[in-house]
Amino acid sequence: LASIEVDLTNIAEGQAIKASWRKQPVFIRNLTQAEIDEANAVDVSGLRDKESLAERTKEGKANWLVTMGVCTHLGCVPTGVVTGENKGDYNGYFCPCHGSHYDTAGRIRKGPAPTNLVVPEFEFLDDSTIRIG
Ligand code: FES
Repeated sequence: LASIEVDLTNIAEGQAIKASWRKQPVFIRNLTQAEIDEANAVDVSGLRDKESLAERTKEGKANWLVTMGVCTHLGCVPTGVVTGENKGDYNGYFCPCHGSHYDTAGRIRKGPAPTNLVVPEFEFLDDSTIRIG
């Protein structure tokens, strides 16, 4: 299956871009230290879909949050820093279709979505390039 390479050079801290992979949006977000701290301060045991930020990012690169831009409820595209719109109640992403709120690790925190935003298979080719798929 097709993979894509994404250059991270121009994604400043606190910014995100939307790429397209397998005809679906992928959000690539360069988290600030405050957003990383916010994600790490959460008690994972209390989450609907229990994953830590470390489990959702690569070792030593916790600032690079790569998720599908597809709500796990019924597949709408959430808003957030990538669109310059509502980030939801947890500073991550918000799905306007039925009101799902995701946090700075892309984890579901409120609303009907059953699981976290999916992290696609990806790897770092070097410090500023990732390959998705
Ligand atoms: Fe996102 Fe329903 S599709 S909340």
